[in-house]
Amino acid sequence: MSLLRDHDLARAFDHASHSYDRLTSLNPGHRTGLLRSARRLRLPDDGAGLHLLDLGCGTGASTRALLRAAPRARITAVDASAGMLRRALAKPWPARVRFLHLTAEEVATAGEGPFDAVFAAYLFRNVTDPDAVLGSVRTLLRPGGRLTVHEYSLSGARRHRALWAAVCRGVVVPVGTLTGDRALYRHLRHSVAVFDTAPSFADRLARAGFTGVRVAPVAGWQAGIVHTFVARGGSTPASTAPATSTPASSLPGREHTQ
Ligand SMILES: C[S@@+](CC[C@H](N)C(=O)[O-])C[C@H]1O[C@@H](n2cnc3c(N)ncnc32)[C@H](O)[C@@H]1O
Repeated sequence: MSLLRDHDLARAFDHASHSYDRLTSLNPGHRTGLLRSARRLRLPDDGAGLHLLDLGCGTGASTRALLRAAPRARITAVDASAGMLRRALAKPWPARVRFLHLTAEEVATAGEGPFDAVFAAYLFRNVTDPDAVLGSVRTLLRPGGRLTVHEYSLSGARRHRALWAAVCRGVVVPVGTLTGDRALYRHLRHSVAVFDTAPSFADRLARAGFTGVRVAPVAGWQAGIVHTFVARGGSTPASTAPATSTPASSLPGREHTQ
């Protein structure tokens, strides 16, 4: 098994950040799937007056989807990988979008929030303790706040597991090897294989105290492989712990505040 975690995973994403946008643009439906999931948050009034969190924002594709779904919202986007954040920061953003170098595990104790909604795209499969992160998300959400997770989570049907293995063997790992990121794309293959199926992740959300959990497939070849999970949480007060977050604008390199 070749799973990467924590520091090793962040380092792998740092390296892969150079080719990440190019590779995901080869995946049919990648961006439209993210947008559809962000819209499934069903935020009122274009998000006016709302504060949203993009957890594991990477190079900003999920942040862009969130911004399109809620163009008037304030958005805080966090990621564990400085390299991925630098790519995000190099893109044009309105002033109400900000990026922070924080892990998902650190956001609550960094004094961020509360948030009206949280979007997490391709994150939960990567974290060491998904239950702990879900617990933290609940403390970050205002009462009744919404969570949408967009994730590789297999349906449980053998044909979807077989299709995922074939796509990884034939395309994902060979292409990732060409860009020098074989370890990360092997991690992608295996992390999906061992992660919760869609029904199991829905159960995990309910066990973590989220309510009204709904699961929806994405369109295209990833149907049965990627799902959107929508839930409500936030029955406990948001954290007011002291701030220790690192603004991405203080990262080394050529990033700049938007
Ligand atoms: C596959 S990328 C997806 C990025 C983005 N959400 C998107 O849809 O394009 C996963 C991202 O999660 C980040 N990540 C992984 N584990 C994390 C953690 N524990 N805390 C914060 N970010 C994490 C990685 O650094 C990476 O940028």
